[in-house]
Amino acid sequence: MPDLVRIYEVGPRDGLQNEAHPISLDAKAGYMERLLAAGLREIEATSFVSPRAIPQLADADELLPRLRALPASRTAGVRLPVLVPNARGMARAEAAGAEALAVFTAATDAFTEHNIGMTIDGSLDAFAPVLDRAQELGWWRRGYVSTAFGCPYTGAVDPHAAVAVASRLLELGVDEVCFGDTIGVAVPSQVTALTDAATAAGIRLDQLAYHFHDTRGTALANVVAGLDAGVRCFDASTGGTGGCPYAPGAAGNLATEDLVYLLDASGFEHGVSLEGVLEAARFITAALGKPLRSKVGEAGGWDAATGAPIGRIA
Ligand code: COA
Ligand code: ZN
Repeated sequence: MPDLVRIYEVGPRDGLQNEAHPISLDAKAGYMERLLAAGLREIEATSFVSPRAIPQLADADELLPRLRALPASRTAGVRLPVLVPNARGMARAEAAGAEALAVFTAATDAFTEHNIGMTIDGSLDAFAPVLDRAQELGWWRRGYVSTAFGCPYTGAVDPHAAVAVASRLLELGVDEVCFGDTIGVAVPSQVTALTDAATAAGIRLDQLAYHFHDTRGTALANVVAGLDAGVRCFDASTGGTGGCPYAPGAAGNLATEDLVYLLDASGFEHGVSLEGVLEAARFITAALGKPLRSKVGEAGGWDAATGAPIGRIA
């Protein structure tokens, strides 16, 4: 039996929401087309949040129908989840033809209050009708627990606090919970501890995903800790997009090309082409007008038969 890993692409959403440079609808559609061509099947497409909160994704109502009209987005198994914070976002997502969503809260009240203006309890109250409606419509549903390891306002997070929020999201009906290392502070031993705490609370490994940021260079090491613990879904952003626009050089999400290289060389199956991802990475970094900062983007892949690099971005 092949050991299958799901790569959940977040570049069009988490990546682009953090980029200062505005991107046209055409460029967003071109990015999506290349991500689909690379074999990615779960791609978070955009957010139906307040356009004032995230102006980069203010075109969601126009963008999603365009993405869904791409022939490749009708391929079996393709899922384009969108972020929904409240009933208003749900109405917009429905009108735009969404079929899968993610709701997002955090492990600390301080972060949820800064991010969505609600406490954790308040956010769960806001999500309940959204998740009920999505269930009626037969949508796939994910719940994010951001700042699962550390919070920029209150510091270290107890794994049991993160797990308690995840359990409440599962009670509200999400199909999967995703623990986010929003500010990129986690190390592998903490991933092991959080996974253990989650399974001890009755969360199944196939209900769990991890979302690492490479802010301090620990993202791939954290993936390995997750794999060792039996987790089989990881988020990544093609081209390593994201990072704080106010901190030049700050790293964004774990780059999909770096994740694909690690999984390929470690013998995991995932259905994604490294060369296809590099092509999409090349496209989006050109559109953003910035250099590519992912390791595999800079070095290329590696052909073990010849020793030559593959798909290096000059
Ligand atoms: N889509 C579009 N507009 C929305 C909206 C939605 N889903 N939800 C609220 N709004 C609008 C309201 O109509 C109102 O607009 P107005 O001032 O022009 O009348 C404004 O946003 C404020 O609405 P309010 O209900 O008072 O919410 P708020 O200001 O407390 O904001 C959120 C709450 C959740 C809407 C907002 O914080 C948000 O969208 N955050 C998203 C953050 C995010 O995406 N972070 C990254 C993901 S981790
Ligand atoms: Zn993120």
